[in-house]
Amino acid sequence: MAVLRCLTGTPMSQRHSPPSNVLATETDGTPWWKEAVVYQIYPKSFNDTDADGIGDIPGIVEKVDYLDELGVDAVWLSPVYQSPQADNGYDISDYRAIDDQYGDLEDWGQLLAELHDRDIRLIMDLVVNHTSDEHEWFKRSRRGEEPYDDYYYWREGDPETPPNNWDSFFGGSAWSYDDEREAWYLHLFDEKQPDLNWRNPAVREDVYDMMNWWLDRGIDGFRMDVINLISKTEGLPDGDPHGGLVGAEHFMNGPRVHEYFSEMIGQTIDTVDREIMTVGETPGVSVEDAREYVGEDGDGLSMVFQFEHMGVGDGDSKWDAGEFDLVEFKQIFERWQTGLAADGWNSVYLSNHDQPRSVSQFGNDGEYRQESAKLLGTFTHTLHGTPFVYQGEELGMTNASFESIDELRDVEAINFVEEAIQDGDAEDYDDVRDAIEAVARDNARTPMQWSADANAGFTDGEPWLKVTDNYADINVASERESRDSIFQYYRRLIDLRHDNDVLIYGDFELHYPDHESVFAYTRTLGEDRALIVLNWSDEPTTVDIPDDIPTDDLELAIANQDVSTGVNAQFELQPWDARVYLTESQ
Ligand code: NOJ
Repeated sequence: MAVLRCLTGTPMSQRHSPPSNVLATETDGTPWWKEAVVYQIYPKSFNDTDADGIGDIPGIVEKVDYLDELGVDAVWLSPVYQSPQADNGYDISDYRAIDDQYGDLEDWGQLLAELHDRDIRLIMDLVVNHTSDEHEWFKRSRRGEEPYDDYYYWREGDPETPPNNWDSFFGGSAWSYDDEREAWYLHLFDEKQPDLNWRNPAVREDVYDMMNWWLDRGIDGFRMDVINLISKTEGLPDGDPHGGLVGAEHFMNGPRVHEYFSEMIGQTIDTVDREIMTVGETPGVSVEDAREYVGEDGDGLSMVFQFEHMGVGDGDSKWDAGEFDLVEFKQIFERWQTGLAADGWNSVYLSNHDQPRSVSQFGNDGEYRQESAKLLGTFTHTLHGTPFVYQGEELGMTNASFESIDELRDVEAINFVEEAIQDGDAEDYDDVRDAIEAVARDNARTPMQWSADANAGFTDGEPWLKVTDNYADINVASERESRDSIFQYYRRLIDLRHDNDVLIYGDFELHYPDHESVFAYTRTLGEDRALIVLNWSDEPTTVDIPDDIPTDDLELAIANQDVSTGVNAQFELQPWDARVYLTESQ
């Protein structure tokens, strides 16, 4: 049984004089995160104040009023910890230090205070499936030093033959041979990201200790990076070589994952007397798995990021994107919306720093960019679950163009191009350019477009990754000025969600499940109803309103185009038409 004491060595009862910069939690018992809209900041690309071409924490501080104006309730900050930046900070070499390029702990403290002053909460990224190979633990582990010798997965053996056939998410084998220790070590991501051995109780204690250190600083939650990969099948057996990522069945939702989650929550989150939000990034998770993580009798997470909807249309790998199929997309959402309605909670997102820009993936980033970006926002803000907005989504920022491999920065994209050429699948970069421009993570990481000034107002230096060419047209300054902009529409959507519990708590019912372009659903909470109608296509369409959708008392609450306020017998929908109707009483 887990020892019930705080792992810092201080008994739990003594730890919890609340830190002075904590944001008070409302008293009605409702977790704040159910009613919140979360904004994700990718710090490297948000706002640079020291002209080194890299965003920084003072740059975020400069923009907290912008976040307040947008109306979001919480910020999820992608990693700002000390890191060699092999994977832009998801390779951490010191969990308790801020990387120099972003500032220092004082800057971070100022950010927390400025956010809290505006009632905006701060969710920190927690990356504990792996560390950097430059973390002290790994340096000492590779020297075989106690007690760190067993902090990672080490296997001795023939330096030519990896211990098993598992793939790395970033291409190639998940094993690298270390000449110093004369053994292989496991890394499900880059070779500079060795996996921590969670079977070792000392690893877990160190992780919980570090989480408590951040909780003591007044943060409001954790986004937990690939957290369902922390348990691996005993003995690390070979994976099935014939499907997707080889080995996944041995490291996704592994055998001891529930034990680790409950222990982690019990020794960290549960010891804090304020409401803390946790969102676990969980690739390969089903609704049933998710319920075990977030349900009433589950492990205690608030919600998870699932990925089913992000891969609709993909072939064997993400690089092999096919036709988007709205019917399949609807089925996935119906399953998640109803599956976690009574027990659990959803997260809702269409973009983040690992995905293409949502308007490019799911909308039309050409002729109907405005309309489709607004439609996608209407969708994410009217579902059951906490909506996440990724920086620039509120402007309708698009995918970028990358002329050559030299313009790419992401290790995953660069590996993909190099492997394709090495394996003979491509002759040169141009053969894979379409795939890169469709799905590479660099698309989401281009600098935030603040204005039509040089470098989109992001930096006075040379940006670390090229600014997307369309910044003169798509930027915060112009979006702020126009009443009809995507930004202003997002502000209204966020207000609408805050003002209508039916959009937060209402039951979800899908209409027209087989319609190829209309996504319509009702949310119902007691007497209150919301009807959301979305035409997910470039073509106008008309649908009859079936009897099972009562419309008499509905009034238009928001729309992305000019439409009459009432509901007739049919919906005549323009391309990318998006409408939310609410019952009059609301
Ligand atoms: C998921 C993160 O979102 C991604 O950016 C990172 O590369 C991997 N986990 C590894 O930490």
